[in-house]
Amino acid sequence: MSRPLLEVEGLEAGYEQVAVLHGVSLEAAPGEIVAVIGPNGAGKSTLLKAVYGLVHVGGGIVRYDGDDVTRKRAHELTALGLNFVPQQDNVFPSLSIAENLAVAASVLPRGERPDAVARLHKLFPLLRERRRQRAGTLSGGQRKLVALARALVTGPRLLLLDEPSAGLAPRAMDEVFAKLAEIRELGIAIVIVEQNARRALALADRGYVLELGRNRYEGTGSGLLHDPKVAELYLGGAARTASSSTSTSTPGGMKPAT
Ligand SMILES: Nc1ncnc2c1ncn2[C@@H]1O[C@H](COP(=O)(O)OP(=O)(O)O)[C@@H](O)[C@H]1O
Ligand SMILES: [Mg+2]
Repeated sequence: MSRPLLEVEGLEAGYEQVAVLHGVSLEAAPGEIVAVIGPNGAGKSTLLKAVYGLVHVGGGIVRYDGDDVTRKRAHELTALGLNFVPQQDNVFPSLSIAENLAVAASVLPRGERPDAVARLHKLFPLLRERRRQRAGTLSGGQRKLVALARALVTGPRLLLLDEPSAGLAPRAMDEVFAKLAEIRELGIAIVIVEQNARRALALADRGYVLELGRNRYEGTGSGLLHDPKVAELYLGGAARTASSSTSTSTPGGMKPAT
């Protein structure tokens, strides 16, 4: 792995009176997709929010591009190229698509905004065609694409995505996952939290399993996907592939978390 773009070490974070993360570590290299899976309540959303400066961090360190950015505010991180798409409330429903993008692009110097939006339209042609449509009238999948586009218009090198496929019909889900692969092709790193763990691991270069606010497993996406223990505990049953793939060797890069 090339030098990490994001390094999270021993992160402790939580809410008033509630400690949620008890020393979580994670890395993401430039252009890499990293999946974070685990049961409900494991602390996956809290992890993304802690990295993005939205919840209280009690200990540990977050490094971005080699710099300590622990406890930096969200807007500062956005300016540095680290952006976050929350699971909910990630578009302005009463604004048009164009207005949604304009609000997001307003963190850029005025002169750079038209190019930023034009680049976005290349990646999301639909958002150009529908630019006058109010975001609230879009389908769930299209709304997710607007949320992604809003984060991308700021020119990030790293995106944190919380459950981008939640609540989507299968075809819309396919579209979102295909778009994530395209975004990786642009060299943008993605840390994705997903309930849809199989899909996320299949797409991801590497993955982490969190449980009760701690690292449980980590490995390559396919290593985790094909690990019988991970499948049984976190993927709702045996790995779907033929047993030969699990018996011949240790899954690539698989190791229990320390
Ligand atoms: N705003 C909040 N205030 C207090 N506790 C919260 C808050 N949000 C989440 N929690 C608690 O933190 C724990 C982890 O939640 P979360 O990070 O959302 O898990 P996940 O995303 O893995 O499902 C849960 O026990 C949840 O109840
Ligand atoms: Mg969550």
